[in-house]
Amino acid sequence: MELKEAILTRRSVRKFTEYYVTDEEIEALLNAARWSPSWANTQCWEFIVIRDKNLIKEVTDTYSETNPARKCSESASVLIAVCGKRDLPGFKDGIQRTKFDSWFMFDLGIAVQNISLTAHDLGLGTVVVGSLDHEKCARLLNVKDPYELVVILPVGKPVEFKKEGPKRREISEFTHKDKFGNK
Ligand SMILES: Cc1cc2nc3c(=O)[nH]c(=O)nc-3n(C[C@H](O)[C@H](O)[C@H](O)COP(=O)(O)O)c2cc1C
Repeated sequence: MELKEAILTRRSVRKFTEYYVTDEEIEALLNAARWSPSWANTQCWEFIVIRDKNLIKEVTDTYSETNPARKCSESASVLIAVCGKRDLPGFKDGIQRTKFDSWFMFDLGIAVQNISLTAHDLGLGTVVVGSLDHEKCARLLNVKDPYELVVILPVGKPVEFKKEGPKRREISEFTHKDKFGNK
């Protein structure tokens, strides 16, 4: 699939078929994350591949009650928990290098997009799940400080390929000329 097509046609997928995502496919997704750019190549990411059915249910139970990704996650053949080491990107010798203390979120975001686009390219789909009880989910998966559990990615074969996504802002709405505020 062409990159442009992948970017424009990737959608969050919340309905999966019964298809069992193979270990090779999961490896391809993780390899896409592996080649992501990151702060000073710190590669803060850690991924938990969850196959155990009971654990999948327990993880899904930490989602916000009305989370639209609940159902597809419960029935998914795999969940990927995306975790990161909080004090690596943006830090040197333990000292914060810029205003921001959460560059790990930025790096994880890039890695997650690589995973999402690769899933789409493989004929699979995923949805980023961030609305959950992070403390509870981290405890369940044994993720401890200085690591953070940030999002869950259920992966599966889409029941349908939706072309249209939720409405986007126009380019002119978010683009500024020379200085912020000049439209
Ligand atoms: C950081 C982040 C967290 C998200 N959390 C959830 C979530 O908890 N549940 C859900 O169903 N979708 C979640 N989404 C998916 C967004 O709702 C979706 O990407 C957005 O509506 C645009 O739709 P599209 O991905 O189909 O283009 C999340 C997306 C991101 C990037």
